[in-house]
Amino acid sequence: MFDLVIKGGELATATDRFFADIGITDGKIAALGTGFEGAETIDASGKLVLPGGIEVHCHIAQESATGGMTADDYTSGSISAAYGGNSCFVPFAAQHRGMGVLETLDLYDSRAGTASVIDYGYHLIVADPSETALAELPEAFKRGVTSFKVFMTYDLMRIDDRQFLDILTVAKEHGALTMVHAENSGMIGWMSDRLVKAGHTAPRYHAISHPEMAETEAINRAISLARLVDAPLLIVHVSTAQGAQMVHDARLDGASIFGETCAQYLFLDRTDLDRPGMEGAKFMCSPPLRDHATQEALWRHLQGGTFSVFSSDHAPYRYDESGKLSKGPDASFKQIANGMPGIALRLPLLFSEGVSKGRITLQQFVALSATNAAKLYGLESKGSLAVGMDADIAIWDPEATRTVTVADQHDNMDYTPYEGWELTGWPVHVLTRGKSIVADGELMAEPGQGQFVARAPIDLTGYPGTKVPELDDAINYGARIAP
Ligand code: URP
Ligand code: ZN
Ligand code: ZN
Repeated sequence: MFDLVIKGGELATATDRFFADIGITDGKIAALGTGFEGAETIDASGKLVLPGGIEVHCHIAQESATGGMTADDYTSGSISAAYGGNSCFVPFAAQHRGMGVLETLDLYDSRAGTASVIDYGYHLIVADPSETALAELPEAFKRGVTSFKVFMTYDLMRIDDRQFLDILTVAKEHGALTMVHAENSGMIGWMSDRLVKAGHTAPRYHAISHPEMAETEAINRAISLARLVDAPLLIVHVSTAQGAQMVHDARLDGASIFGETCAQYLFLDRTDLDRPGMEGAKFMCSPPLRDHATQEALWRHLQGGTFSVFSSDHAPYRYDESGKLSKGPDASFKQIANGMPGIALRLPLLFSEGVSKGRITLQQFVALSATNAAKLYGLESKGSLAVGMDADIAIWDPEATRTVTVADQHDNMDYTPYEGWELTGWPVHVLTRGKSIVADGELMAEPGQGQFVARAPIDLTGYPGTKVPELDDAINYGARIAP
């Protein structure tokens, strides 16, 4: 007798699909089989039973370096994530200049602790890699924060190449994964200033000011820096075909380089920025939306396995004076907050456009929605349907159709970039550790029910790595430059 049985559904993992009941006890998957009885039962016949999604790129209760606050906190962000089929998420804890690392984590603990309805962790953003901050990093790893993001652009966030090498080296030593926002700051600044000076300030110039080459130069440099010290690195929000190809090639060489792309780069394009008035501001993110040929190339990389992770990069700034229009209705593209919402639609979009249209298999969907992220980011008890794992489960109706509208997102936003999209396939029941979070459109959970998940170090088995001769102690006279 189990606490809960999910009966009669078709299960899928990253490798298989099969019919089975799931027996759940104490929040864990206790058995997979048939004919199970439980104190409670969920009838999943005609439905797909999948690992709950894990969203690993979202900005929740986060101040930008210039002071703007995201519209979503851990309650609204986690509720929206749950309605979108997620059982767990890993937003960012952002260190700003002058802040300590542990001070940053304490701040986010105070924001998330009693607020989230689903389980959560953080990636630490490192914007001030002072000696003190670097010395505090090992404590962050001990607290289970085993990944962090650095920026190569944004004046108040970016680090230089030497600082990047320092961070990669400390991360490697502790089994952490570094994530990078790779864009060339100088190219973007130069382009932006010239555009604005010539009076080209509308949102559509945002995409012009962020040339593809700004991304590809930075990805090439980031991969080179990681390979110099043989440290693992994940390039977040890859938006270009050439950038994806560089990730692919580095992986083929054995380097521990990983890639992520996001929903908006597959489903939106830069013509969305060219809408009347300031409407294009709703579609501004960095790197920017590209063109149709790029979308096709990114799909091929998703199908072919270049990207380990598929995320929303949910960065919610409302289309009003609290967000996108904080510098007024005539602000230049340089003054408009970057980012767009999408935490509730990442998985329905991928299911509808990917699985329902036959571009990817259901197993690939599971890998991209949960399993790969769990493995990469050390969420050891999540991301699959197997005995002993947390009962983090999303039950999908593959036939359900919905028309996207902002009111159904459950976030604190006043728009969705996908308004009016018709999607097929929808998550109808989401559980975290065996507890229903959302069922048939109803919220079943209380804020604070979600627990912090301490994550394990990255497992690099199967990544031989790369050795640069000058860093090889057999060649550099035993200089031991990096561990
Ligand atoms: O435009 C974006 N993506 N804003 C969010 C911050 C980031 O760089 O991921
Ligand atoms: Zn970024
Ligand atoms: Zn982001």
